[in-house]
Amino acid sequence: MAASDSAQEQAAPYGGGSAGPKRVRIRHFQQAKRDGVKITGLTSYDHLTAGIFDRAGIDFLLVGDSAGNTVFGYDTTLPVTVDELIPLTRAVARGAKRALVIADLPFGSYETNPREAVHTAIRFMKETGAHAVKLEGGERSAEQIRHIVEAGIPVMAHIGFTPQSEHGLGGHVIQGRGDRGAAQLLRDARAVEEAGAFAVVLEMVPSEAARAVTEALTIPTISVGAGPHCDGQLLVWTDWAGLTTGRIPRFVKQYAQLAQTLEDAANAFREDVSSGEYPAPEHEYE
Ligand code: KIV
Repeated sequence: MAASDSAQEQAAPYGGGSAGPKRVRIRHFQQAKRDGVKITGLTSYDHLTAGIFDRAGIDFLLVGDSAGNTVFGYDTTLPVTVDELIPLTRAVARGAKRALVIADLPFGSYETNPREAVHTAIRFMKETGAHAVKLEGGERSAEQIRHIVEAGIPVMAHIGFTPQSEHGLGGHVIQGRGDRGAAQLLRDARAVEEAGAFAVVLEMVPSEAARAVTEALTIPTISVGAGPHCDGQLLVWTDWAGLTTGRIPRFVKQYAQLAQTLEDAANAFREDVSSGEYPAPEHEYE
C-alpha cells in the first residue's frame, strides 16, 4: 500500500512490509479475517525488539503481562503491576512505526468493576502511546470490555487458558476440551465479540475447538497454542527466539537460540579479557 495515501490505506490489501498499511489499525484485523490473510503478533517489552519486529512486518506487538516472568523474574504473571508495565509499553510504542501496539492489563487492574477497567485502560492509552488494550476473560469480562470500548479504546480479548487465573484453573491446563469445554469456549468467544472486542486470543485450546470459534465469529481469532485454524498467531518473543531458559510450551516453534548465542558470546568475551586479546589495537583511541 502507498504509505502516504489514506484512501489507499482503506482499500489496499492487508500485509506486511512496504505492501502493508502505514499503520496497522483495527480495521485491518477485520479486513485480514475477511480476506483470509493471517495476522502475526509477538510480545515485546522494550524499544530495540519493538523496532526489529516492526521492521520485519509483524502486525501487532503485545506488551504482555508475561513481562512479569520475562523481564521482572516473577514465577507467575500475578504480581506484575500497571506501574511496572507502563514504562515498558511506552518504550515499545516508541519503537513501533507500523505495528499496532497492545497494552496488556495486569491482574488486579480491571476485574473488580467496569469503572476500574476503564480507568486502567485510559492510563495505558494516555501514558504510553499504545493503540489498544488486552484483558483476560470471556463472559466474566464482557461488561469490562463493553465499557472500555464505549470509552473509545479498542480491546483484544483473551480466552481459553488465561494465565492470570492459573490457580483457579488448576495450573497450566488446556481449556476447551470435550463438549462442555468447547461449548464454554464458544460462549466466551461470543460474549467478547458481542461486547465489542476487535479480536480474541485463544490460548492453549484444541485445534478443533479453535476452528469452531474461528468459524463462528466475525472478529479474528489469534492463536497462542490453539492450532492452525485461527486467523493469526501470537508468541512470547523470548520463547520464540530461544532466550527463555527452562520449559518451553509444546506449541512454540523456536526460530533462534539466543540464550546459547549470548552465553557463548559472554564466555568468549571473558576469555578474551583474561588473555588480553580484547581490547586489541583497533579498539584503542590514539
Ligand atoms: O502476556 C502475554 O504475553 C500474553 C500472551 C501469551 C497472550 O498474554
